[in-house]
Amino acid sequence: MRVLSGIQPSGRLHIGNYFGATRQHLRLQDEGHSCFYFIANYHALTSIQDRAELEDVCMHVATAYLAMGLDPDKSVFFMQSDVPQVTELCWILNCQCPVSLMAKATSYKDKVARGLPANMGLLDYPVLQAADIIIYDAESVPVGADQKQHVEMTRDIAGKFNRTYGQDVLVLPEPYIVPEVAVVPGIDGQKMSKSYGNTIEIFATDKQTTKRCAAIVTDSTPLEDPKDPDTCNVFALLKLFVEPAELDEIAASYRAGGYGYGHAKGRLAELVNEQFADAREKYPKLEKQPDYVRDVLREGGRKAREVADATMARVRDACGLLTHR
Ligand code: ADP
Ligand code: TRP
Repeated sequence: MRVLSGIQPSGRLHIGNYFGATRQHLRLQDEGHSCFYFIANYHALTSIQDRAELEDVCMHVATAYLAMGLDPDKSVFFMQSDVPQVTELCWILNCQCPVSLMAKATSYKDKVARGLPANMGLLDYPVLQAADIIIYDAESVPVGADQKQHVEMTRDIAGKFNRTYGQDVLVLPEPYIVPEVAVVPGIDGQKMSKSYGNTIEIFATDKQTTKRCAAIVTDSTPLEDPKDPDTCNVFALLKLFVEPAELDEIAASYRAGGYGYGHAKGRLAELVNEQFADAREKYPKLEKQPDYVRDVLREGGRKAREVADATMARVRDACGLLTHR
C-alpha cells in the first residue's frame, strides 16, 4: 500500500502530533508499506515568513523524525519544496476545483479567525495538499482528525479530474485516522496545539516535562475526595500511555478518593519521559550532524521526484498539455 503524509513544520513537535500522526507514520513504515513522508515547507509559507525561523523549524522536524525512528532505508523522507512539480499539479487541480469547495474549508476559516492573514496561499492550502497526495499515487493518508476534511477534498478534486478527463488517471486516497487518539487534549483541556500554547513537547528535558505535567488544569476537588476520571485532563492523557490494567487501577483510585491529581500528574510525567527517552537521547546527536540529515532529505527528494515525474507525465498527457522536453 502507498502511504503518504505531510508534516507541517510550524513549531516544536508535541505529544498530540505524536499520537495523532507520527506514531501511525512509524507503525506503517515498520509494517513494510511504501511510505512517503515529507516536511510541508510550502504549506508553512502561508504562515511563517521569516527565513531563519522556517529553516530552523524544518531542521527540527527532520531531526525529530529521524530521532523517533523514521528509517530512511524504509521510508522516502523529503522536503516538500524539493519536488516543485507539486506546485504544477496544484495549478492543474485548481482548474478542477470549484470555488464553493474551498469556501467550506474549516481550517481556512479557523486560521483566519485566529488572526492569520487571509492570503491566497492559505485559501489554496487544501489544493496544494491534494496535489501532495495525488502526485505520489497515495492510497492511505495517516493524519489527525482535523485533517480528515482535507483528505475528503482530495478525493473530490481527484474524482472531478477523472470525470473531466474521462479516465482513471488519479488514485483516490483514504484518510487513516485512529479514533482513540483523534484529538489529544492539551494541558488546558482544549485540543493540544502549538497555536494554543498548551502542548507537552516531545523533546523537552525530563524536568521540563514534569513541570509541564504539573501545570495541567484540573478542578479543585480535595485530595481525600472521590474524583471523576472521565472529566479529568490528566486522566485523558494517561490513557494514551498506560496499559489497560494500570488504567483501571488509576480509575478506581480516582473514584475511591485519597488519590490526588498530583499523583496522576507525577505518573504521567514519568510515562512521557520513559516513552521518549530513546528519541531524546538520539536527538542531540543528530542535531550535531546536520549534513547527515540533509543527505537523507536529498536522497528522499530524488526518489520522490521520480514518482512525481511519472504522475505528471500521465496528468499532462491526460489534460492535453503538449510537452516538448
Ligand atoms: P498544531 O495544531 O500543533 O499546529 P499540526 O496542525 O502541525 O499541529 O498537526 C500535525 C499533525 O498532528 C496533523 O496530522 C494533526 O492532525 C496531528 N495533530 C496535531 N495536534 C493534534 C492533537 N491534539 N490530537 C491529535 N492529532 C493532532
Ligand atoms: N495540512 C497538514 C497538517 O497541517 C500537513 C500536510 C500537507 C499534509 N500536505 C499533506 C498531510 C499531505 C497529509 C498529506 O498537518
